[in-house]
Order: sequence, then C-alpha cells, then structure tokens
Amino acid sequence: MGTTASSSSPLRIGLAGLGTVGAGVIRLLQSNGDLIAGRAGRPIEVTAVSARERGKDRGVDISGFAWEDDMTALAARDDVDVVVELVGGSDGPALTLSRAAFNGGKSLVTANKAMIAHHGMELARQAEAGGHALKFEAAVAGGIPVVKGLREGASANELTRVYGILNGTCNYILTTMEATGADFGETLAEAQALGYAEADPTFDIEGVDAAHKLAILATIGFGVELDFANVDTVGIVQVRAADIAQADALGFVIRLIGEADVQNDADGPKLLQRVRPCLVAKDHPLAPVDGPTNAVVAEGNYVGRLLFQGAGAGDGPTASAVVADLIDIARGDVGTPFSAPVDALAKLAPAEPGGRMGRAYLRFTVNDRPGVLAEITAAMRDADVSIESLIQLGLQKAGGGSDDNEVLVAMVTHEGPEANVGKALALLDGSDSLTGEPLVLPIMA
Ligand code: NDP
Ligand code: HSE
Repeated sequence: MGTTASSSSPLRIGLAGLGTVGAGVIRLLQSNGDLIAGRAGRPIEVTAVSARERGKDRGVDISGFAWEDDMTALAARDDVDVVVELVGGSDGPALTLSRAAFNGGKSLVTANKAMIAHHGMELARQAEAGGHALKFEAAVAGGIPVVKGLREGASANELTRVYGILNGTCNYILTTMEATGADFGETLAEAQALGYAEADPTFDIEGVDAAHKLAILATIGFGVELDFANVDTVGIVQVRAADIAQADALGFVIRLIGEADVQNDADGPKLLQRVRPCLVAKDHPLAPVDGPTNAVVAEGNYVGRLLFQGAGAGDGPTASAVVADLIDIARGDVGTPFSAPVDALAKLAPAEPGGRMGRAYLRFTVNDRPGVLAEITAAMRDADVSIESLIQLGLQKAGGGSDDNEVLVAMVTHEGPEANVGKALALLDGSDSLTGEPLVLPIMA
C-alpha cells in the first residue's frame, strides 16, 4: 500500500532503534493512539522493530511487533509503509537503512541530524525521485516544530537570519554551571543520564551536534544546499566557571549559539554558518532559556522576528516530533524534504570567518607578574582592537582554579572587525606570559 493515498487502513511502521527516542515513539503511539488516529484520519501502527539486543528491557511492550535482527530488512517488508530510523550515526547502518527504505518504495522519518547534515541532499533526491516522503522534524531542536514552521509557516518570507540554542546538552551544562557552580564533568554526566546527550557526547560539547542542526536550518530557511562542512564550529569545552562568573558580572550569560545568515558582498551572496559559545545580554530573549530547552529565532522580511522555544531533547518531546511527521504522511502529505526541490536549492559560497563586525569577550589565563597586562593590551593596540572594559582577578577569586600565581584577565572589546581580534591573538601566540589558550566569545548583537 502506498503512503500517499488517503485511506482508513493503518499506516504501518517499521521502527529501527528502540533507545531513548524509539521507546518514546512506541509509548506515545500506545498512549495517544486514538487521538493520533483521529487527527491522521487512520491509525498509525508499528508492525516491525529492530535494535541490537532483542531481550533488553526497554520499558515498553514490544511483544506484539515482528522483530528483525538486521534493521535493513525492515525496508523490504510488505507490512511496512514507512521506515522510522532512530538509530543515529551519519553513516553506517542508519544510512544503509535509509537508502534501502527509498529503494524499497517506502517513506522515511528520522531524527538523525548527523545523517541529514551529511547526506540530506542525496536522500532528498532519492525521496523526490520516487515520490516518497523524507521527514526529519525531530532532527532539529527536538520537540519544537521549527522545520515545519520555517518550511511551511514562514515559506512566503525571505529570511535574513536564523539563530538560536540548538543543543540541549550544552544548554543544560551551561545553565546548571551558572545556577549551581557545579563543574563541567558532573553536569555532562547528568545530561547523559537524562538521555539528552548523543551516543558520542563529544558531538554535543564540541558543537558538532548544533552544527548539524544549523546546517539543516540554513538549508530550510534560506533555500540553499546543505553545507555542513563549512559550519565554523567551536564548542563549550573551554568555557570555565570563571567565564560564567565574569559574564554575569558584565551583565551577560553564556549560551552555545548556532547562527546563520546570507551576506551579500561584491562577489555575490555568501552563507555564514557558525556555532560558538556567545555572551548573551541578560535582557535578550535567549538569555532565560535554560536546561535542555532549545530556542530558535528566525527573522523574515514580512513576518518579522519569530521565536520558537521548547524542549530540545528527551524521549517525549522528540517522539512528539517523530509522530507529527508520521501523522503528516498518514494524511497523504509527501511534500519536499527541504523548502524547495533539491535541484532548486541555491549553492552558496561560504562567508569568510572573521569577516564580520562585532564585540567580543576575551579571556586570558596568565602568570601574575609585572608587564603581562601591558603585553596583552599592546597586542590589542597593534591589531587595532579597542578595549571597552577589562577585569583582572586571581583565579580563585574568579571562581576558576586553585593556582595562586595564575590570574584571569577578561576584557570586552568595542565593536570592530572580528578579524582584528584574531590578529591580536596571533601576536600573543607563543607568549610565555599566557598559561593556557585564550578564549574568545562573540557578544550576540
Ligand atoms: P539511543 O542510543 O538511546 O538508541 C539507539 C538505538 O539504536 C538503540 O535501541 C540501539 O539498540 C539501536 N542501535 C544502535 N546501533 C545499532 C545497530 N548497529 N544495529 C541495530 N540497532 C542499533 O539513541 P537516541 O534514542 O537518543 O537517539 C536516536 C536518534 O535520535 C539519534 O539520531 C539522535 O541523534 C536522535 N535524537 C535524539 C534525541 C534525544 O533527546 N535523545 C533528540 C533528537 C534527536 P540497543 O538498544 O539494542 O542497544
Ligand atoms: N544531543 C542532542 C542535544 C539531542 O543535546 O540537543 C537532541 O538533538
């Protein structure tokens, strides 16, 4: 049976992955089954499942579903209309299954941002060629319907900028450190236990997961080809409790922000995509966003500023997004995976990193001896960076370490070319006054 025709017979699901999200999808379909059937116009039923370990207790009853040891077999089953991929990983079994789903004439729903960021163009082409649906609402910002919001709700607009908090794990870590003064490792372990973190949590803390989501958002928002390789990415690993304390004293909080815009220069439009821990003014709408909550701001030329906010991770919210995609498919909505057919998406060159104007927070850890501050400020002068404010504190006092002889120098620059900050750091490179890598955090405009 096809996935596009409207019918009262059930939409049959082959579900790969029974972890946090997979089990959440089964729980949601079981507990809200009647409501979902009413809205979809027909029941949505899981017929077959696959994961690594058949006997594992998953907190949901899977005894009524057929089991496949090899998840790719789901794509060949006659009793499956839609394959739902909730395994993860950009390549490997998830990609093999996804390709097999389209080859087997099925539609695909996935929460896998890594796979979409790397292979979304290929998969969308395959889906469009076969007239199948490829849907991935859960891949960006968990439960928030931002993919649909931008692809459909804001589709009449030229979007000028899309930015936001795109990783629940990092936001949980930063805001927990902010509230409790707890250290980084402890809060990461909590985020993992709560099911927010990726199988490889370095993807979260190094900004890669946010970069995957940003690349997808940019494609949908600006109608451009996916370009994950050119997302300029820095994670939160270098952010210390002392930075959070200094930011607070200056009137800011620190959030990991993914930001994309299209810049028009003499050679034509360029796509800027970057992920960075940023200083966010306490009165900015993104400042109060805490815990695993995500928030996305999109600015359109007719709609103005849109703010999408909600749970960015966790079983319930992510399952909600997956099942919303299934309801669309059950209603016969195939649509296009992105905001335009793949062949109509524009290919933009990446914008030069550092080619922007802005203010920044700079933090140095240095030896406490005469002349160190003069050396740093001389580098700023020589690179034409103007300092707005400067704080020097013993690390213990700053809340960031135990070495009495190490001090923290934090400064905020005036607005200026970001490239000049890079020049100043290059002048200080190798200086034996510095005890660690300097940290540069843009200040959100
Ligand atoms: P989990 O690690 O909790 O679950 C992964 C599932 O995939 C497990 O059931 C596992 O089997 C199965 N699996 C892994 N490798 C294989 C394999 N080689 N063959 C068969 N089965 C395999 O991941 P999540 O549920 O957290 O995430 C799933 C997807 O959803 C990922 O793409 C993730 O990025 C995405 N996502 C997750 C969110 C979250 O909050 N967790 C939010 C938004 C998106 P077994 O259980 O037997 O080990
Ligand atoms: N690891 C991801 C996060 C899950 O922390 O946001 C949701 O995509």
